[in-house]
Amino acid sequence: MSTRHQRPAAFGAAAFALAMAISPLATPPAQATSAAMHQVVQLELAASSARPATAALATKPKPPRDPAKSDVLVNKKYPLVPRQYVPRLTEIPGTGIRLQPPAAKAYKNLVAAARRDGVNIRLTSGYRSYAVQKGLLEKYTRAYGSTYARRIAAKPGSSEHQTGLAIDVGNHNRACALQACFATTKIGKWMAKNAPRHGFILRYPKGMESVTGYAYEPWHFRYVGTAQAKAMAGSTSKTLEHFYGVAPAPGPTATKPSAPKSGTVKNTRKTTANLNLRRGPSTGTTIIRTVPRGSAVRLTGKKSGSWVQGTHRGATGWMSSRYLR
Ligand code: DAL
Ligand code: ZN
Repeated sequence: MSTRHQRPAAFGAAAFALAMAISPLATPPAQATSAAMHQVVQLELAASSARPATAALATKPKPPRDPAKSDVLVNKKYPLVPRQYVPRLTEIPGTGIRLQPPAAKAYKNLVAAARRDGVNIRLTSGYRSYAVQKGLLEKYTRAYGSTYARRIAAKPGSSEHQTGLAIDVGNHNRACALQACFATTKIGKWMAKNAPRHGFILRYPKGMESVTGYAYEPWHFRYVGTAQAKAMAGSTSKTLEHFYGVAPAPGPTATKPSAPKSGTVKNTRKTTANLNLRRGPSTGTTIIRTVPRGSAVRLTGKKSGSWVQGTHRGATGWMSSRYLR
């Protein structure tokens, strides 16, 4: 585990060929710790301890940035470093598609498990070089215009495909290829249910464009390792951004939070840190979600000690008032 992954302690305890061009595998034991550590971005823990609130507020989440590791965060705010990064790669036999070795191993296991269930997955994309990604974005821009293209394809140097950790899957008859209806196909359903146990997460879930920056892609899965994929599946973290407690990386047409209606302004607060929304007014209760720093929360008016009840994007729960302004 890298020293960066130990940092949360400092939080105070707290598209076809080319277009069809994406990943998955074995989780080093250290990753379990890494996954758990990231879940510890629970700043209200700091609020409830003797630690000065200012100390926690001074600490910003630092997501994993090493593209050679399966936990790397790559999005519109966190591009690859270096942008021309080329991973170590191995080919998935019979496909001409390459992935980082751990992801390739995991993908092979996933395909074997799917076959045992009578599901025959088609790999349509894996590693894409900077140049290939550039060509893909340009192709989509010519076809659909730049705004839409940026909702469905990353800029070169910002695609998970360039890490060799992401895969796009499809049906052999190409049914619902790169369309939302892929989720309703046998393979789409099997992947949604079983990918996490093989270390893959659905990276761009439905309704999360304002967080991930990309439209719903039920065919795009990202290898993060089994420990982290299972931890995410068992949590309310729908995206890597939530899991790492970092700010959303919205795309060009992402929905902006609507302006507060007149007369309700005084009941609206902003989170000054990544803040857990919990079922009850204590750190012993279940986390509903981690609300990213800078998010708007509507208060219901209920209070309990330093805890207040609030609503964020349809979910109501309790949070420490110390990280609201
Ligand atoms: N389709 C995903 C967002 C990519 O281009 O990486
Ligand atoms: Zn993809």
